[in-house]
Amino acid sequence: MIQINENYTKLQASYLFVEIARRVADFQKNNPGKEIIKMGIGDVTKPLPEACLKAFHEGVDELASETTFKGYGPERGYEFLRKAIAEQDYKSRGADISPDDIFISDGAKCDTGNIQELFAKEIRVAIPDPVYPVYVDTNVMAGRTGTATDQRYEGLTYLEGTEENGFVPSPEGVEADLIYLCFPNNPTGATATKEQLKAWVDYARANKALILFDAAYVAFIRNPEIPHTIFEIPGAEEVAVEFRSYSKTAGFTGTRCAYTVIPSACKVWDSTGKEYALKDLWNRRHSTKFNGVSYPVQKAAAAVYSPEGQKQVRDLIDYYLKNAAIILEKMTEAGFSCTGGTNSPYIWVKTGTDSWETFDRILNEAGVVVTPGSGFGRCGEGFIRISAFNSLENVQKAMDRIAAALK
Ligand code: MLT
Repeated sequence: MIQINENYTKLQASYLFVEIARRVADFQKNNPGKEIIKMGIGDVTKPLPEACLKAFHEGVDELASETTFKGYGPERGYEFLRKAIAEQDYKSRGADISPDDIFISDGAKCDTGNIQELFAKEIRVAIPDPVYPVYVDTNVMAGRTGTATDQRYEGLTYLEGTEENGFVPSPEGVEADLIYLCFPNNPTGATATKEQLKAWVDYARANKALILFDAAYVAFIRNPEIPHTIFEIPGAEEVAVEFRSYSKTAGFTGTRCAYTVIPSACKVWDSTGKEYALKDLWNRRHSTKFNGVSYPVQKAAAAVYSPEGQKQVRDLIDYYLKNAAIILEKMTEAGFSCTGGTNSPYIWVKTGTDSWETFDRILNEAGVVVTPGSGFGRCGEGFIRISAFNSLENVQKAMDRIAAALK
């Protein structure tokens, strides 16, 4: 008899964005011809920057000739891309990251989901609430939790993000070995200051803990005071891993390219106290279970770092930030308290009503898809998340319709 991993039975029936897609498909079936504006899942709508497209085409052309053809690539990714990342994403911010600390992959979702495999089942895991569901679900799949009651899995520590703490939980009173953080935050759009990140880094250093820092939305930071990487915080290289992605930065949600940074100084231990470089363990996993991102895609990603690429990416993000500003303004005008919308593509709106009911109401009455806050955890109840990834025209239309539906 083939027996299942019963941890899967502890999961909710379907993944948040799958459930949303199901409800939208039902709505479409029952209301054929009705226009729907999608501002739920953070999926980009604008084409790839021209510099990336050009490099992508060149990469494909190289595969057409025997002299420039490429088969399997280097296990960590092509050096031209890792060098550009080290220089322009890290050294430029004073963070001492070397190309060898960087692992190119097909997504921050996969990397944040997979990395927990490297750690013992018994570790204490702290996860924010509200949160990107991947962090919770992958720990459930791995058997680090009991069952869930009222959206809380037994065995997990929840770091509550509330209006009171500005959706930036602090390490005070926390006992954890593995800590997930995401800033600019998905779903709340909140950002963390240097002092707030330093508190977590100090906690991790004092407790031999590890921080998994998801920086997928870093490109949306416009305030120079906000840290762009956790490695701007002294000592973070000993206790943190950072995940980044080209999905939201350069429109790669369908193209797939991301990277994970594990500095050489980041150490972990076995049950006898023997020390290991985390980077070596991840390299072992990566080279066993992953065969790399295709050459043309890595070439396209590297074009982000060219002068034209930098300008085009900035224009692209500015476009979505303008949408975010409109959403923030309209929802505030409609009388709702909001977080995010500046330095972030997400606007976290307090409706004070049941999240899924509000989702259904907005879908049915406004023909707009948002994300119900409770889908991100218990603390998200009473909120909805609106994503700025759409055309300006659609955003303007959607905001008028949502404001009318929620009156
Ligand atoms: C989101 O909407 O939360 C993200 O687009 C999901 C993801 O990046 O996987």
